[in-house]
Amino acid sequence: MPSRHQARYNAFGMTLHWLIALLLIGNIGLAWYFNTLNGLPKITPVQLHKSIGLTVLLLSLIRLGWRVVSPPPPLPAAVDAWARIAAGAVHVLFYVVMIGLPLTGWALSSASVIIRFKPIMLFGLVQWPAIALLAHLPGPEMKQAHEAFVTAHGLIAKLAYALIALHVAAAPRHLFLLRDGVMGRMVPFLGTQAG
Ligand code: HEM
Repeated sequence: MPSRHQARYNAFGMTLHWLIALLLIGNIGLAWYFNTLNGLPKITPVQLHKSIGLTVLLLSLIRLGWRVVSPPPPLPAAVDAWARIAAGAVHVLFYVVMIGLPLTGWALSSASVIIRFKPIMLFGLVQWPAIALLAHLPGPEMKQAHEAFVTAHGLIAKLAYALIALHVAAAPRHLFLLRDGVMGRMVPFLGTQAG
């Protein structure tokens, strides 16, 4: 039987999980907010949105690297085969969201003439480069690319809503119905023992 230590993610894994979750959900909220604005008042929240999104990209790449070095602890034996497959699929798709959303955001921002006089500034401090290939496209091609990446960004955001709903819905099931200790793998103050 695995020890309590082996049965859960380590402190680094838990910190990255909760930090990325907070930033991802916060950035969705920020996008919903700036979608209600027009003109000058929209600039600051959009800039913050880009900075948070690019931070999610960097943290997700670190998390992916960490996952290779330190594979996740095995699920408790009591977890059904279908639930293992569903959890695995949701986790893979979360990486598509965590990496695909920032990349398409970066691409749609690069494929815009605005980037020439208003570059992406990480939290107003450091300039983040535009994707040169997109930033130098001729007018009509740039417009087409911009629209395609806006559509892709919106579609991946919808995937994110579905995954967050599924992932969050699984929590009370494990915690109150199955009581299988799965939640304790990622929540610092919960135990991992079933019962
Ligand atoms: C965690 C990462 C991110 C999340 C969760 C996220 C989420 C969203 C959402 C939900 C929208 C509204 C989509 C719609 O109304 O259909 C949006 C729009 C937008 N995002 Fe992101 N995004 C992320 C990363 C980024 C990054 C890294 C950039 C740029 C560097 C970016 C730039 C934009 C822009 C410019 C818009 C407005 C697009 C438009 O409608 O013209 N996003 N984002």
